[in-house]
Amino acid sequence: MTEAIRPTVYIETYGCQMNVSDSELILGKLAASGYDEVKAPEAADVILVNTCAIREHAEQRVIGRLGEMKSRMKNDAILGVTGCMAQRLGPQILKSAKHVSLVVGPDGYRSLPLLVENARAGLRASVTDFDLEEHYEDFKPRRFDKVKAWIPVQRGCDYRCTYCIVPTTRGPERSRQLEQVVRETREIVAEGMSEVVLLGQTVNSYTDGRHDFADLLRAVGAVDGIKRLRFTSPHPNDFSNRVIEAMAETSAVCEHVHLPMQSGSTRTLKRMLRRYSREGYFECVDRLRSAMPGISMTTDIIVGFPGETEQDFEETLTAVDAIGFDDAYTFKFSPREGTPATKMPENEFVSDGVASERLARLISTVRSGMRERNLGSLGQRREVLIEKEARRGGLLQARTRDFKTVIVPGEANLIGTYATVELTGTTGSTFTGAIVRERAALPMAR
Ligand code: 5AD
Ligand code: SF4
Repeated sequence: MTEAIRPTVYIETYGCQMNVSDSELILGKLAASGYDEVKAPEAADVILVNTCAIREHAEQRVIGRLGEMKSRMKNDAILGVTGCMAQRLGPQILKSAKHVSLVVGPDGYRSLPLLVENARAGLRASVTDFDLEEHYEDFKPRRFDKVKAWIPVQRGCDYRCTYCIVPTTRGPERSRQLEQVVRETREIVAEGMSEVVLLGQTVNSYTDGRHDFADLLRAVGAVDGIKRLRFTSPHPNDFSNRVIEAMAETSAVCEHVHLPMQSGSTRTLKRMLRRYSREGYFECVDRLRSAMPGISMTTDIIVGFPGETEQDFEETLTAVDAIGFDDAYTFKFSPREGTPATKMPENEFVSDGVASERLARLISTVRSGMRERNLGSLGQRREVLIEKEARRGGLLQARTRDFKTVIVPGEANLIGTYATVELTGTTGSTFTGAIVRERAALPMAR
């Protein structure tokens, strides 16, 4: 690297939106320190793999990828591992992968430029301290998405769900100051975006000491130019009536909530330490639906948690049917080292065969409910925001306020604009639509 040429960085992101948002912050920090982003590891002076530890499978993918980097990286390139797996394994990664120079957990990104410089001088390092003050307020994120902006409002998690590694990898819960979130929202509008997604591990438990999540929704929703406001992921127990009222009264808040259920069996929920029962979850859904009629609901569900009986599992299926989720992310339980679930009696562990069979039944229940509801929406008109080009040429991918994907014909210059579409067809999960009239014209049907 000569002095005239700017150093380059390549980053690859695994896991949740919080990790995507962290990658945007990391790139912003490195850009401010003189780095240019490149899209291929072969071209990079610094390669960062921003990792996830949520399930064994996520970690296996990263391990495979790190192996691959060995042959793809330039001779003098620095390879760093960031994110949740970095936090979980720390120096173990340095020991087992000699071509990795840096291991940096989610609270250590401020020192990345310095750590890279040190690594160039031969100093390998693992940085995994938590910093409860760290919100990267002065970083200017390099946003990947040009249509909607992810805004982290809370880091860490204070729940202790027995299956979950996140409290270990992201530390205790802390929230940004409301004013900072509002400032960032204004910047996003100035950049031409009108949709924000507030991020937190249990986002609706947000508190900055003076404001709760209800205040935050109202404040962000009041920023001029914000048309769509979403958040992920809330915890059922943090949906106070105040928060639900703020959702209903803030016109930008979209008619969709992603509300992780995890299981429909009170017995299993108790063992997961979710802190609500089947009935408690149903009650939360009812309160949301009565405040926001027609609100769509998606969820996360784990099957095969230790001790889950056939009857417990059937209660999950009946809950899915009774609630009528619009979609669900479904997972087989994956034991994570150090979490309480791994210490449950071995004879209670559900075999992989049984877990796979339950997963298949769950997916088919989710899909058939989704198909039925989506067929019932055909012919309706919706406001969509056009997000990107669809995989098939000449088509665009758009999203309704209630989080349905609609494929519409059109040119790339429509990306970032709103339109009214008529839902003309469905694959069962996504829709095809016809643009009825551009947004500028008449009041929209939601
Ligand atoms: N095994 C399987 N799924 C898990 N999740 C979290 N931890 C585990 C685990 N150990 C799922 C939960 C959570 C989603 C992000 O990942 O459903 O809501
Ligand atoms: Fe993965 Fe959870 Fe970390 Fe997100 S917070 S990257 S899902 S382990």
